[in-house]
Amino acid sequence: MTTTDQPSTIASLAAEDRRFPPSDEFAAQANVGEAVYDEAAADRVAFWGERAARLTWETPFEQVLDDSDAPFYKWFTGGRLNVAVNCLDRHVEAGLGDRVAFHFEGEPADDRRSITYRELTEQVCQAANALESLGVRSGDRVAIYMPMIPETVVAMLACARIGAPHTVVFAGFSADALAARILDCDARVVLTADGAHRKGAVIPLKQIVDEALEQCPDVRTAVVVKRTGSDVTMVEGRDLWWHETVERAERTHEAQAFDAEHPLYVMYTSGTTGKPKGILHTSAGYLLGASWTQWEVFDLKPETDVYWTAADIGWVTGHSYIVYGPLSNGTTSVLYEGAPDAPHRGRWWEIVQRYGVTVLYCAPTAIRTFMKWGADIPAGYDLSSLRVIGSVGEPINPEAYVWYREHIGGGRTPVVDTWWQTETGSIMISPLPGVTAGKPGAAMKALPGVAVDVLDDAGEPVPDGAGGYLVVTEPWPSMLRTIWGDDERFRDTYWSRFPGKYFAGDGAKKDADGDLWLLGRVDDVMNVAGHRLSTYEIESALVASPLVAEAAVVGAADETTGQAVVAFVILRGDAADGPEVAAQLREFVAKQIGKIARPRQILVVAELPKTRSGKIMRRLLRDVAEHRTVGDVTTLADTTVMDVIRDGMAAAP
Ligand code: WT7
Repeated sequence: MTTTDQPSTIASLAAEDRRFPPSDEFAAQANVGEAVYDEAAADRVAFWGERAARLTWETPFEQVLDDSDAPFYKWFTGGRLNVAVNCLDRHVEAGLGDRVAFHFEGEPADDRRSITYRELTEQVCQAANALESLGVRSGDRVAIYMPMIPETVVAMLACARIGAPHTVVFAGFSADALAARILDCDARVVLTADGAHRKGAVIPLKQIVDEALEQCPDVRTAVVVKRTGSDVTMVEGRDLWWHETVERAERTHEAQAFDAEHPLYVMYTSGTTGKPKGILHTSAGYLLGASWTQWEVFDLKPETDVYWTAADIGWVTGHSYIVYGPLSNGTTSVLYEGAPDAPHRGRWWEIVQRYGVTVLYCAPTAIRTFMKWGADIPAGYDLSSLRVIGSVGEPINPEAYVWYREHIGGGRTPVVDTWWQTETGSIMISPLPGVTAGKPGAAMKALPGVAVDVLDDAGEPVPDGAGGYLVVTEPWPSMLRTIWGDDERFRDTYWSRFPGKYFAGDGAKKDADGDLWLLGRVDDVMNVAGHRLSTYEIESALVASPLVAEAAVVGAADETTGQAVVAFVILRGDAADGPEVAAQLREFVAKQIGKIARPRQILVVAELPKTRSGKIMRRLLRDVAEHRTVGDVTTLADTTVMDVIRDGMAAAP
């Protein structure tokens, strides 16, 4: 990716000059003001040391940061605490036992219940007792393969309570993927359910576990929650029902404190190579990152807010902003099991209205889907309770940002575009809702206490107005500690490209004000006739057209120009498809960015290939664009999408 010569091609983003400062009323009541940046800048390590007072410690730490064995940093050395106690018991002891921890909204109609902090604490104690009676000890790994139900939170916190690191595997993964993860971290106990509801159908989780365990002879116990009532085979001597073990266990459990660096969980994420990486997070630093950033970035008021991260617990977003952040802060959250369009496309807005949700956090892909469905759907619900709305997971196109602010946020709420990764554990780059005049499409700047930069190929910081590689230049509390079982890969992947700095794998640009725009993974960057173009930048331009709902752009090999831009677009419902549409859109992009960015080819499609977590799989589109056999599609949410797109490409002029 280039550095200094890039900006001319970034016109469509640079031309974005809308600004959304917080209202005076919002700024006046905000948790965090401008001064926090100065405080953190004055002494970053001391800043984190002071933030750590929001956790309840059994033994205070002696040292905030131990960097003697970098990049194996240690935080809060000497300190001891229990993560589950921080999330539960301390709130009950403070008199908040009757506060709702989760409003659980199941997928089946009218399947809903609210669970208080007292109830959740009791259930976690029961599960902790049950796990201990099954022989699970501190340090043992436990795999969790469960739906989006309260028992999943109970399972995670029970593990945390007894110091057994969990590895939650997203319930959309296959038996092979599950087995690979269980084997990689050598889990001996699996927590699961008979099935998961998904748009009226049932995903047979237990059956998938049975299949996975054929490859995992060391797993001795599977505990099964009855969720869907599906028929399952219980293997004698291995399988137990949750309601016959956990729900019969003692409701009190004496929690023990663990070292600040005690492993809390392993979350697998895909790297550039085949084998998924087991990202290890530890206790105190991780919990602090999740807790503090939820409070800071969403201006959290735990007494009054109803907070909703509409993501899956099976990803890091769910770990940090459904479970650990919200519970450590004593938040009342929504936990929603279902899909946005089951049973109807107003489902999310119905939930916001029902619970009076005040903070909503979701992914741009969801926002663009809602755009496609039309603004009249959310307009049919009362969304006036919302006061902060957030975005995460991929760059948010300016058009999607503005639509989100307008049609969901009522033109009133700050929008926080939050950049982070499984590896970073918590939000790193984001506006602060009471401080920042937001720019649509920009994550703006590093949070107080977080140090990032954008470097060129030679590792030099790029000047304002230029793009390069995003790095984190100083350690932070919720950073990954290693890749499970592979310290070497940890060093290679993150610390060798720019020695001493964390290489995020993302491209970014500093605008003329020095604010940050994330440009997507560096492997999504194209080189067209010597010009560097970001796939995201052209997608942004396309989505800015009134005709387009969603766009994916890839760089396809081209004899003349090296790479050429090929775009796949979904038209908005009211836009008529026709031979002139592609030509019109090519000109539109040319006008927005420059002729160099004009796609060689634009293909109108009905769906884009997405992973189950909603990321567009550009690799597959590149295969189609380059007329290759389409590669591995097993991680796609809908594997038939690629057949349809390939046929469309073959028929295209
Ligand atoms: C990658 C990390 C962080 C939780 C969800 C994804 C992309 C994430 C943004 C954002 C632009 C973003 C990056 C990053 N990403 N947030 N606000 N703007 N890009 O976690 O699966 O570990 O993916 O998601 O490319 O590297 P993940």
